Amino acid sequence: MKRKQPTKSSPLSRSGRFAHGMSVEVQRFSESISFDWRLWRHDILGSMVHATMLAKVGLLTEAELKAIVDGLEAIGEDIREGRFKWKPELEDVHMNIEAELTRRVPAGAKLHTGRSRNDQVALDMRMWLRDEIRLLGDELTGLQRSLVALAARESKVLIPGYTHLQRGQPVHFAHHLLAYVEMFDRDRARLEDALERVNVCPLGSGALAGSTLPLDRSMVAKLLSFTDAKGRACLSANSMDAVSDRDFVVEFCAAAALIAVHLSRLAEDLVLWSSAEFGFIRIADAFTTGSSLMPQKKNPDVAELTRGKSARVIGNLVSLLALLKGLPMTYNRDLQEDKERLFDTADTVRACVRLTAQMMLNTSVNAEVCAAAAADPLLLATDLADYLVRKGVPFREAHHVVGQVVALAEQRRCTLDALSVDDLQTCSGAFGADAREVFDLKAAMARRTLPGSPGTQEVRKQLKRWHRALRAPAQETAQ
Ligand code: ARG
Repeated sequence: MKRKQPTKSSPLSRSGRFAHGMSVEVQRFSESISFDWRLWRHDILGSMVHATMLAKVGLLTEAELKAIVDGLEAIGEDIREGRFKWKPELEDVHMNIEAELTRRVPAGAKLHTGRSRNDQVALDMRMWLRDEIRLLGDELTGLQRSLVALAARESKVLIPGYTHLQRGQPVHFAHHLLAYVEMFDRDRARLEDALERVNVCPLGSGALAGSTLPLDRSMVAKLLSFTDAKGRACLSANSMDAVSDRDFVVEFCAAAALIAVHLSRLAEDLVLWSSAEFGFIRIADAFTTGSSLMPQKKNPDVAELTRGKSARVIGNLVSLLALLKGLPMTYNRDLQEDKERLFDTADTVRACVRLTAQMMLNTSVNAEVCAAAAADPLLLATDLADYLVRKGVPFREAHHVVGQVVALAEQRRCTLDALSVDDLQTCSGAFGADAREVFDLKAAMARRTLPGSPGTQEVRKQLKRWHRALRAPAQETAQ
């Protein structure tokens, strides 16, 4: 019987077993090249290292290795220059590159020795995500820096702090911004932690059951920097887990979803603060748009879109969890659906972090409006209760008394600090001549000295701490 030769357009994976090609409709349905092409750099690097290892263990000659590496380099150059023609009939990035290599150099047919696309795609994604996590981490640092810069620039500004979106107690504007710096710091830590589990080399796991060939997995892992702090190779320990595991994608998307949620909350604060009702800030024109109908409008679109885009990032995470939940071991083609979720999450979150950082640097504070809002003496009602506590009144009673004081001011249609000591004493005999000193806002802020509190000294200390922490670029761990 005459054997069918692999044809130019039939995928390498179908060359021997299949009598018929795929219908165009099935090709279109199943291709992933339209989105996984962006793994090309990592795919080529992984292949070069795999070939280097094959040569070392005697499965490729030096000449074959050279031909493969040169061929892959040339393909990389073509892709970079936009000359490479991706073929959907070759399904994915792995087959496109391998098929083209084999067309150019005969030794290309040996590249896939001891390898499956199942461990190859896991490898590519881990390498891609490793880079992405570092980039996102840097962007987060940039965002923290812009928040700290704005906080430092406006370090004297006070605003009401809110619970239930009702005015609560006065805080430094800087304290409010530094709350987000804390959140983004936890986000960075989460990414770094996830990186440890991304940084595991699956190559050598084959389709699911490794290989009978004498592959050197450690060599591959080390050459691709899958190493721990001590320089030891980080290898997946179970071939079945290695090809079916996408936990590392879920972990990243979960960390990214939380970043998106933090960004969304910040965006909501910015939207509120820039409204006429609050008027605390002005976002620069470059980050706002007008209305097509109402000429006076300036809309905080970048903040709104950041808030809106968190929805798809959350959706991507849920989508990935649903993708995995019913999969039997090991690799299943369903897993191809992981990439668009991952890429979309990475692209969206990185852009949101970057633009939010720029927007913060281009936001100014309306100092007078903030001062007027923070000067509301009601914000110091709790301080008045604390005053009574210092005079020995049990807090529950003090709370009740100050409630009566507030009601009295309301009755009189005056502000809290307009009540005389005599007025106060009608509510409690514990009020002394010094009671009204409570309403000195500056002194009130100086009184807040607990660690983590919004007091003047403490905020100054926190600003200094963040300046120091964010000044130096993150130290590389010594290898
Ligand atoms: N395009 C595939 C994916 O993204 C690559 C792996 C294909 N493996 C397979 N056995 N068909 O998952």
